[in-house]
This record gives sequence, structure tokens and C-alpha cells, in this order.
Amino acid sequence: MKISKLVLSVSLALGLSAAAQAAEIEVLHWWTSGGEAKSVAELKKMLEAKGHEWKDFAVAGGGGESAMTVLKTRVVSGNPPAAAQIKGPSIQEWGDEGVLANLDVIANAEGWDKLLPVVVADVMKYEGKYVAVPVNVHRVNWMWVNPEVFNKAGATVPTTWKEFFVAADKIKAAGMIPVAHGGQPWQDATMFESVVLGVGGAEFYKQAFVALDPEALNSATMIDALKTFHKIKDYTDVGSPGRDWNLATAMVINGEAGMQFMGDWAKGEFTAAGKVAGKDYICTAAPGTAGDFTFNIDSFVMFDLQDKELQKGQNDLASTILSPAFQEIFNLNKGSIPARLNMPMDKFDDCAKLSAKDFVSTAEADTLLPSMAHGMSTFSSTQGAIFDTVTEFYNSDSITAEEAAAKLVKAVAAAK
Ligand code: BGC
Repeated sequence: MKISKLVLSVSLALGLSAAAQAAEIEVLHWWTSGGEAKSVAELKKMLEAKGHEWKDFAVAGGGGESAMTVLKTRVVSGNPPAAAQIKGPSIQEWGDEGVLANLDVIANAEGWDKLLPVVVADVMKYEGKYVAVPVNVHRVNWMWVNPEVFNKAGATVPTTWKEFFVAADKIKAAGMIPVAHGGQPWQDATMFESVVLGVGGAEFYKQAFVALDPEALNSATMIDALKTFHKIKDYTDVGSPGRDWNLATAMVINGEAGMQFMGDWAKGEFTAAGKVAGKDYICTAAPGTAGDFTFNIDSFVMFDLQDKELQKGQNDLASTILSPAFQEIFNLNKGSIPARLNMPMDKFDDCAKLSAKDFVSTAEADTLLPSMAHGMSTFSSTQGAIFDTVTEFYNSDSITAEEAAAKLVKAVAAAK
């Protein structure tokens, strides 16, 4: 009796201390839509299976602008979370602040250089050292189509912008909404970059959004793209201003609207709604962009924390993120493709298979392009300047495309 009591109290004490030692890993992200929440739940589950506690730090708002604002406040006040969803050139900005943890010990032990495509690995490093771990590769230049809406309207899925307006007219005439759009700056920019790519081609896209060449930004091609972009507005509904992206996706899912221009996180919504690619919905490249791939890689950085248990938790989180099991289940839910090389794709749908194939072929053809709208091609200040100009133009009936192009040059120059 005595002994069993002792055993009980000792094991209780051990249990308690083990619980107290389990690191509470606070993870900032902006994955709050149906498909996103299902995806991030898998990460939580896997981290918890390694004995850590997941402290959710979700800041709603597609595209992550709100999340980044909240994160800055936390870091400035000296209280960063353990991990945060940060991507693209912003990783360099955070690296410059000297607040990121060096992940090279785990990266070298696990051979990340061999597990990742170079284009992905490059984004994850600051001064040659891994400071971030990639979750996925999203493709942005997609158009999501409801085939029933097209059938009812007698419209054909467009592959050029000219065909797009023909189809949109037919859907409108049949009393349905051609384009489901959420009027928020990042969504305007998402649609805009696909138009720029479709109208101008990959080289032009690079000149404009990677090189930020004033001649490209204020060119006849850009003016053409701006006009095409603005014209799409005539095919959206009055409820579009301010609408969240996933609600716009829901309009395509339920047959209220025919199309949406959105990255393949939209597929996460179709999947969460039990819809099947190629049957209930069609994924196709935005008009004129079938040979191109605008990429958007989600990744997590770890902040430099002193606590050893937290550091262990961070390493376990990083290792989990790159594990084949996580890369598969997360991306099946999220709509993206794995960032890790040589992953079996048999469980993925045709959209993901096409994306995986195009990721490789566009890299070879030099038409694999960083998404401006998703923080892959510029620093955040430049991206913000482009967003402001694009959104102002989209929402105005008095600014001409010529004026908007000239404004783009000024805004980008002022942001540098
Ligand atoms: C992120 C995606 C996310 C989307 C909408 C993008 O910037 O990369 O992971 O699903 O925003 O929130």
C-alpha cells in the first residue's frame, strides 16, 4: 500500500514535470478559412505527437497583411512567438533585424539542401544559413471554373483574354455572375498579376515585378494590362468590395459565379466542400498564362529564443514540416504541392499533378516566376506601394490606365 502510494506520487510528480517541460510552441499564421484550418490542424497534431504543446496564434486575413502587422508589434515588444509564417524576401528583412534562429544544425543533419529544389532553398536562407523551412509551393496563376455555370451559359472555358470576355458576356447574359471577386487590395493584386502575365508574358512580368523597371511599369503593355484588369470589374457583382477570398470561392463552388482568379489555396476550399477536381470544378491557367507558373512558397521562420526546451520544440517543428508525411497530408488539404523533392503524387488530384509537372518544366523554360501579390518578388514596402496603386485604380472610374501606369513608377520608386 505504502509502496504503491509512493509509486503513484513519484509517477505523478514525473508526469507533472514532464508536462511542465513540454515546450509550448506558439505559432503565428493566417490560416483560418475552411481548407486552411484543416491543413494547419495537421501540423498541430504532428507537433503534439512529438510531445509539445501547440499555442495557436492565428490572425485572420487572407494574404497575411494583418498577421504581419500583429507580428511586428510582438517582436518589437521583445515577445516574439516561437514560429511565424513568413515568406519570400521578407525573410531577408527579418534576417536583417537579427531576430531569427539559425536552423543549420537541423538542416545539415537532415540534408535539406538535397531535399529541396534550389529555387525553394534559396528563399529559406539568410546569409547562406537556413532560417526558414518551406511548407509548400502554391501556384497563383490559376482560374477556378464552375463547369455547370459555363454549360448553362453556353460558354467555353477561355484560354486568352479575348475569349475570356466572350465567355464572361455569355455568363452575364444568362443571369449569373461571371467572376467571383473579393475586393481587397491583395486579391486585386492577385488578379492583376495574372492579367499582367497573360497580357505581357513572362519576360515582361519579370521586367515589371522583379526588376521593377520603370520602362516596363509605364509601358504600352502595362497600360493594356491595366485596361484589361479594370474591365474585369464589369463582370463582378456589387457584393464584391471587401469580400473575403474564401467567400468568393464559395460562389464558384455553389454555382453563383463562373470563375475566380486565385492561387490554389482556393482548391483547399473545394476539397473541404467535398468537390472533385475535373468533375465539380475545373482548374485552368489564367488566360494566356498556361506556360508560366507564378509561385508562392509558404514557410515558417523560428525566432531566436534562449529557452532550450523551446529550441527543441522549434527544431521538432521544422523537422515535422519537412517530413514526407506532413508534406503530403498538409498539401492534400491546402491545395498546394509539396516543397520537398521526389514526393509521391499518386494521392494528389489532377490540378496538383499539373502544378508539380509545370513547376519543373517552367523552371527549365525560365517562366517560373515569383508572385508579386504574395510577397515573393519584392520587399514588403514595394509590394504595398504596388497594391495601393492597383487597388486605387481598380476602384476608380476616373483614373486612366495611363495615369495608373505613371503612378506605378512613382510609387515603386518612393518605396525603395
Ligand atoms: C498564403 C496562402 C494562404 C492565402 C490566403 C497566401 O498569401 O500563401 O497560404 O492560403 O494567402 O490566406
